[in-house]
Formats: sequence, structure tokens, C-alpha cells
Amino acid sequence: MTKENHVATASPEITQSGGEGAASPSKNGVKRRSFLKSLGVAGAALSGGSLLTTAAEASPRASIITVGDVAILRFLAAAEILETDLWQQYNELGGIQDSEVPGGSGSPAYAAAISFLDGDMSQYIHDNTEDEMTHEVFINAYLVSKGAEPVSLDQFRTLPSSQATGAQQIGRLTNLMQLSVDTSWWTRYRSGTQNPDFGDTFPNAVPTLAGGMFTAIPRNNAELEIGSTIVPVDTHVQAIANTAGFHFAFIEQGGTSLYASIAQRVSSVEVLRIVLSIGGTEIMHFQTWHDKAGNAKPLTDGALVFPDLTNDIPQPESLQSNLIMPEPTVFLSKKFPVCSIIRPTATAGVATGAVKALTDDGLFRGQTPDFFEFLGDLAEEADAARREV
Ligand SMILES: [Fe+2]
Ligand SMILES: [Fe+2]
Repeated sequence: MTKENHVATASPEITQSGGEGAASPSKNGVKRRSFLKSLGVAGAALSGGSLLTTAAEASPRASIITVGDVAILRFLAAAEILETDLWQQYNELGGIQDSEVPGGSGSPAYAAAISFLDGDMSQYIHDNTEDEMTHEVFINAYLVSKGAEPVSLDQFRTLPSSQATGAQQIGRLTNLMQLSVDTSWWTRYRSGTQNPDFGDTFPNAVPTLAGGMFTAIPRNNAELEIGSTIVPVDTHVQAIANTAGFHFAFIEQGGTSLYASIAQRVSSVEVLRIVLSIGGTEIMHFQTWHDKAGNAKPLTDGALVFPDLTNDIPQPESLQSNLIMPEPTVFLSKKFPVCSIIRPTATAGVATGAVKALTDDGLFRGQTPDFFEFLGDLAEEADAARREV
């Protein structure tokens, strides 16, 4: 039997969720090559007897999930691997290194600067990192339990580590040293009249941070020890820590919207439970980091200016640092009363939108074309998933 025939045999099984309405891959507009990838069907698995067929025959029908759910989970697994990679870099230098989150040995100067935002920052960085590790491992284990191949990005771990003492010297997936951090989530969550799902756009709370390339971790020891004639070293290290503080919230507000948006196209109740349960922790992370970013020390480090967002000075409501609860705003239709909500939550194109946002953030600067193709395929397949009921 050829590979093509084998998949043709396997795919109707895996697409039946209770037997009704299973869309074919072509109806979903998914390219056949990428469709095979979305199933996680490896050539070796097919030639040796289809992993999918075996799983489908061995499992009760209720445990079979749709092709769309597999695509959504595979994209989320990739997103969690990327989150783990970036959070591990933060933890190695600014968090707590222990058996729960191993790797690195800490950078006292960087950790001290981060602690300006909150005395418990090192614990929070540790816990956010641990959470991402468990998200990644759980989603991949669930995929395996359904006969789908887990996601690995190991071949793309090619980016350099920080040279500062405390960081592991290993290949990375993400680049925290040339970021352009979008801080418009700050003003977006303070608006009572606008919502990105209506096409509204929002100004940055820290405009210069979005307009350049800045590091959120010390790149080397000199950066922690030697100032310039213009900027004292303490100010520069605090600027790096402030950048990290806003980046933490940028990442986790993205996860907050991603999970809420993509949940709307999940078919299986169990997969919905996974997406809602993991998505809820992304919300908790965002809420924490939102609060801490408001403590960033006002300073100027060359082109990078952190304005005073604290309540020490009068602020417009769009900037006031203690307004960390979502301001009620327009939702679904302007005919309805305003509502306190996560925003955005529109589901169309959310996976490709998430990849674009992370790319624009500079997180993948230096990555290879193969990386962008692989991640782009996973995102397209997740965005092609449709809810089947
Ligand atoms: Fe996560
Ligand atoms: Fe997260």
C-alpha cells in the first residue's frame, strides 16, 4: 500500500467525531502536504503500519478527535515550546534555578534590577517558566495518546545564548536580545470605548520600546558592569529589566487572547477543557505581569525612554498604572452594553496572527526560513480547523 492510500484509509477514521460532519482536508482548504504534517503522520509510522489507524482501531470512538482538534493542539504545542524557550532564558538569569526549573545559575545584578518591579519577581519568573514547561509536555502527551505525533522544534534550536554569567550556553529558539516590544495592550485594556475586534488600534504605553531593538536580558557581563559616559550602568541594567517587565506582559496577554480565540473552533469537549484550562493560566500570568510592569522605573537609556506610568503623577485613564482590571468596553456589537472582557477574541486567523505578533516582537530574529515555514504551516492548519458538532 502506498503512503497516499494508507493516509486515505486513516483519515476518515480520525476525522469522525461521533460520526457527523467531518470535513475533508480539502474542504478545509488545507494543502495535502501540510495536512499530513498536521496529523503528525511521519513516513516511518505509515510504512510500518499507520499509527493513526492503529490508534483509531484500538480506541473507543468517543476518544477519537478531529483533524481540526489535532491541528489546533499541534499549533498550541509549538506555541508552548516557544514560550518555554523564552521563559527558560529569563529564569536562568532572573528567576530561581532549582529542580523544578533547572538550568542556569542566575545573574545577581539583573535579578536585583528586576526585583525593583516587585520583590517576588524571581519566584514569579520561575513559576511562569514551570507552567509553560508543563503546558508543552501535557499537550504533546495528549497528542500521543490520540495517535498523533507530538511537536518538536529541536532542529531549530540554533540561536545564541546570552554570554552573561548565569546563562546556559545552548542553542535557543527565541531571541530576547533584539526585541521591539508592543506595549499597546496597556492602553487597549484601559479603553472603555474601543476593542481590537472592531478594528480599533491603540497607542503604545512605552512608544520607544516598540520602535527599536532592545535587549530584555543582559547580553554579556560588560553590560552589567560598565556604564557609558552618558548612561550609568545601573540605569542601563534597569532599562533591560524594565524591558523584560513589559515583555512578560506582552507574551502572556498574547497567550490570553490566543487560547480564548482558538477555543471557539475546538470540536471535542475534552479538547475544549484543555484549551480553557491552560488558557486560564495564561490569563493569570498576564494579570500578574500587568501589575508589575506598572512599577517599572522611569528612566532614559539612549533612545529608550520609560515614561513615569506610576500613580506618583497625575495620569490619563489610558495610562494609569493601577487600572489593571480590564476596563469594560464594547463587545460583539455596539448595540450591547459594555462588558469587562479579554480582548481580542475573534477567532479567524488567530494562529497566523499570533505568529506575526511574535515575529514583529523580534522574538525570532536570526531564525531560519525553514523555521518560519514549519511554524507557518502549523498556524495555517490550526486556522483551517472548524468546529464540528
Ligand atoms: Fe503557556
Ligand atoms: Fe504563557
